[in-house]
Amino acid sequence: MPTITFQPMGIETDASPGTPLLDAARAVGIEIHSPCGGEGTCGKCIVRVLSGEVDSDGAGVLSRSEVADGYVLACRAKALAQDIVIEVPDQAGWEGGKFTDASEDAHLVRKELLPQKWDYDPLAVKWFIEVPEAQLEDGLSDLERLTRAIQRQWGKMDVRVGLPVLRRIAGELRKDDGRVTATLIRDEKRLFVVGIEAGDTTVRHYGIAVDIGTTTLAVQLVYLPLAEVVATRSGYNDQIACGLDVISRINYAKTPERLEELRKRVLNTLNQLVHQVCESHDVQTREVVNAVISGNTTMTHLLLGLNPEYIRLAPYTPTLAEAPFLTAEEVGVDINPESWVCLSPSVGSYVGGDITAGLLCTDLAAGTEDVSLFIDIGTNGEIVVGNEDFLLTCACSAGPAFEGGGIGCGMRASLGAIERVEVDPDTGLPTFSTIGESAPKGICGSGMITLLASLFTTGWLDAAGKLDRTRRCSAISAESRHAAYTLATAEQTGAEPLIITELDIQNIIRAKAAIYSACCLLLEQVGLTFDDLANVYIAGGFGRFLDLEKATVLGLIPDLPAERFHYIGNASLMGSYMVLVSRDFRQRQLDLARRMTYMELNTNPSYMDQYTGALFLPHTDPDRFPSVTQPKQGTNKKN
Ligand code: FES
Repeated sequence: MPTITFQPMGIETDASPGTPLLDAARAVGIEIHSPCGGEGTCGKCIVRVLSGEVDSDGAGVLSRSEVADGYVLACRAKALAQDIVIEVPDQAGWEGGKFTDASEDAHLVRKELLPQKWDYDPLAVKWFIEVPEAQLEDGLSDLERLTRAIQRQWGKMDVRVGLPVLRRIAGELRKDDGRVTATLIRDEKRLFVVGIEAGDTTVRHYGIAVDIGTTTLAVQLVYLPLAEVVATRSGYNDQIACGLDVISRINYAKTPERLEELRKRVLNTLNQLVHQVCESHDVQTREVVNAVISGNTTMTHLLLGLNPEYIRLAPYTPTLAEAPFLTAEEVGVDINPESWVCLSPSVGSYVGGDITAGLLCTDLAAGTEDVSLFIDIGTNGEIVVGNEDFLLTCACSAGPAFEGGGIGCGMRASLGAIERVEVDPDTGLPTFSTIGESAPKGICGSGMITLLASLFTTGWLDAAGKLDRTRRCSAISAESRHAAYTLATAEQTGAEPLIITELDIQNIIRAKAAIYSACCLLLEQVGLTFDDLANVYIAGGFGRFLDLEKATVLGLIPDLPAERFHYIGNASLMGSYMVLVSRDFRQRQLDLARRMTYMELNTNPSYMDQYTGALFLPHTDPDRFPSVTQPKQGTNKKN
C-alpha cells in the first residue's frame, strides 16, 4: 500500500489508492479545516503536494498559480498507487483555540421562565427500599423480593429490570442487609429499575440537561432532589472541523466512516463537558441517572449515528422525529450506563428538539389566544408563530456568526467576550464591556450587534455595511479592499488587537437578513403582520443580555414596542432542564411537536426576495423600521 507522509508533522500513514487526503489526514489525527464538509467549494482544506502525484480536482476553487505550485484541495485529492509527501499549511486561527475553548457560563437556569405552577416530577427517581432477607421457607428469589418491596411503595406497577441491573442485585442486596437504593424511571404503567446500590444514596441524585447546537454545546448538572442547577459548561462542537453548518455536516457524513467520526466528535465534546460539570461539583458521573438532550434534527441524527442524508433531499424526511428512550450506554454518554437518555422530539428536517424544548419557555406552550412569535437565533435560525389554535414553523440557515463563528475575532458569550460596545459619534472610537470585566479576548454575538448598531447610528457604517473611509478615525484602516475596524488594541488585550473587517460585518448582515426574512415569510403565510403579535420571544446563546433596541437598528428583529419582546437566552437548554425535572413538561413538549406544521423555505420562491431586501441596515424599506433614526453625518472629513 502506498505511504502518505504529512509534513511538517512527519506523520506517515498507509492509504489505499482512491482515499481522499482529508480522510487519510484525519485517520492519523491531523486536523484539516473543512467548513463546507468536503464539497470542494470553500477552498479551506488546501494542502500542497511536495512529491509524488495525486488524483486532484480543485476546479473553480484554486487559482492557476496555486495549481501550478502543487496546491490541491485535501477533500478532492485522492491518493494514487504511489508514495506521496503532503505539506499541511499552518491553520492558525483554527487550531489556535477559537473553536476549542470550553468555559463556565454565567447564566444558570432562568427561574423566571418557569410557569408559575408546575409539578416537580422527574422522570428518574431514586428510592430507598428495605428488601426482606432471603428465607428458605418462601423460596422467593432476590428479584421477586426486590419487586415486591418496590410494589409495596409504588403500587402494582409492572416492574422491569434489565440484565445489567439483574447482574448486580445479588451483591448489592447483601452488602447492607437488604437496604438498597433503586433508581427508577416511570411511564404510565411500568417502572424500570435502571440502577441499584447498597445503602441509602438518595441524596446523590443528579441529572444533566443538554443543548447540542451546530456550533456550541451546553451542559447543565442538575441536583434532582432540589431541581437545582449546580454547574453549567459550554464549548464548541468538535464537529465544526468537518463543516460549519448542518448542510456541510450532512455532506461530510456521506460514508459510514465519516458518519461515525461525526458521532464520536459530538460525543467527545459532550462527554468532556459532562466530566467538567461533574468534577466541578465533586459528583461521580455514575451518579448522574438521567439525561435530557435537545438539538436540531441533524445534530440528533449525528449523535445517534443515523444517516442524515435524507434530511436534505426532497421530500426532506428524517429517520425519526420522536426517539425511543435509549440507555446512556447505547448512546455513548458518560453517565450511569443503564440510565436513560431522553431526546427532545423534532418537527421536521430543520426544526428539531431544540425548538420544541425552547417553546416550553414561552406562552406558545401555555396555549393562549394571543399570537406569539418565537425566534431561535443560532447557526440555524428557527421561527415559530402561533397560538392555541395553530403553530407554524420554518428554519433558515444563518451561519455561525452570532455564535462567534466566521468572525475573525468572534467567540462565544463566555469570559472575556466583549458583550457591549458604544462608538463615539465624533471620533469613531469604541468603548466596550466584557463578560467578567476581564481583558477582551474576542467579541460575542451581542457585542457584534451593539457594535454594528452603534457604528451605523453614529454614521461610521453605511446601510450596505461599509465603513466610512472619508473621515479621520484611528480605528478604521482601509489598506486592503475590505476596510477594518480596530475594536481593541494590543495594549487592551495584552495580545493581538481585535479587528473586525467588512467581511465579518457582511457575515452578520447575511445572518440577520436570513432570520428577519424568514419571520416575514412565516407571518405572510398566515395572513398576519408583526403588529398582530402579542409577544416576540428571542432565544439564542447571547449570554446575559441581548440589546433589543440595537437588534432592531440592525434589522434583526421587527420594530415593535419593547414590552412585547422577551429575551429568553438558551431556551433549548432551559427546555431540557424543564423536561428533566417534570414529566408534565415532557408531555407538553410532545404535544407541541405533534401540533406544529413545518414550512419548507427552500421551496418557497418569495424567500429570496425577502432575503435580498433585508441585506441592508436595517432594511431596504426604511418604513418597516420607523423608530430607527437615520445615521448622523460626521464633520471630521479627511483632507
Ligand atoms: Fe475542501 Fe471545503 S473545499 S473542505
